[in-house]
Amino acid sequence: SLNLLPASVDDFRRVAERRLPRFLFDYIDGGAGAEVTLRRNTADWEAVQLNQKVLVDASRMDTSVELFGQKLAMPLVLAPVGMGGMTARRGEVQAKRAADKAGIPFCLSTVGICPMEEVSQVSPTPFWFQLYMLKDRGVVQDILNRAAAHGVDTLVFTIDLAVLGTRYRDIRNGMAGGLGPWGRLRSGVIDYMLHPRWAVDVGLRGGPHGFGNIAPYVQQSKNPRDYLNWTGSQFDSSVTWTDIEWLRQVWPGKLVLKGILDVADARDAVRVGADGLIVSNHGGRQLDGVASTATMLPRIADAVGDQTTLLVDGGIRSGQDLVRALALGAKAALVGRPWVMALAAGGEAALTRMLGLIKQDMRTALGLTGIPNARDVTRAALLEQ
Ligand code: FNR
Repeated sequence: SLNLLPASVDDFRRVAERRLPRFLFDYIDGGAGAEVTLRRNTADWEAVQLNQKVLVDASRMDTSVELFGQKLAMPLVLAPVGMGGMTARRGEVQAKRAADKAGIPFCLSTVGICPMEEVSQVSPTPFWFQLYMLKDRGVVQDILNRAAAHGVDTLVFTIDLAVLGTRYRDIRNGMAGGLGPWGRLRSGVIDYMLHPRWAVDVGLRGGPHGFGNIAPYVQQSKNPRDYLNWTGSQFDSSVTWTDIEWLRQVWPGKLVLKGILDVADARDAVRVGADGLIVSNHGGRQLDGVASTATMLPRIADAVGDQTTLLVDGGIRSGQDLVRALALGAKAALVGRPWVMALAAGGEAALTRMLGLIKQDMRTALGLTGIPNARDVTRAALLEQ
């Protein structure tokens, strides 16, 4: 099976599973608790039935959409993934290149590996930046200034991490509790040795492994654990709607709230002047047992879909899923695990290939639901529920 070409998003995951050390694969792949919500996220998209409609001219198909005044080649965004750049050498740089090539936005996490200054060197194409609120608002202001100066046009403020989800796989692997992969040193070393390709590509030749964006505030440290400790101590669990009003005042670009799963919260997000919101349960990594995003998106769309720009993530794994997301009221969807797994499987080239497969799937879905233009997708693309 090593020689088979990856044809689906899950194929890249399987290659990644072989390439990555266990602790890293589990950290990416896993979710909170018994992973009920994680499984629901994918299963519930799969359960949304498309409506096949034939004999509509499908000779000219268009997967592109407009989002925040910009054209996207397809309604997809690479979601912010903390430590996402650990799966391949300077991973976020490779991901930004692949996103540019595919004509879609890349969102850099606060706790990504590559700093925004490095990502901005890839091209003049703007990118998104995801913010976690830190106790020191001076630092937050400085991060926002840097972002504005380095080509970030859209700020994604993540609001579903007031407390960190309990992730059993991370506890077992020694990743949880601020220890990082260094928590279980001896088995960690064996894990590295069993995955030499990754260990050389990332571990030896990969450059600095701290959280690039916060490096300026963690003085004189080469120890990745210091970054985890600093970030842990700075994480602000006291954030409320008032803080978003502050952000709205200090951030001049687009502001998107990520992690809304409740209809009343969605109304509040509109009230505080967010440009958009991401219906998300953090990929099932926070509160296990909450509803899937496929379940909540249509309810939130019914409430505020005409007043704001809705995005969605969690369990999106194909071009069909993109059509399902549009049909249920989103303007675009994000993927987290898929892009990181593709990087692990084969860097920028593999990610480019995966994005091409998703786009091809989407064209098929548009052609056979009788809606050749992605901008025209409505609930009519689905079987009446
Ligand atoms: C995430 N996610 C995330 N979100 C965020 O706002 N900031 C972050 O730093 C991270 N970090 C992170 C790490 C890892 C390993 C994963 C898998 C996810 C959540 C992410 O942006 C997105 O909401 C989910 O990944 C979407 O679900 P799928 O596509 O992974 O199923």
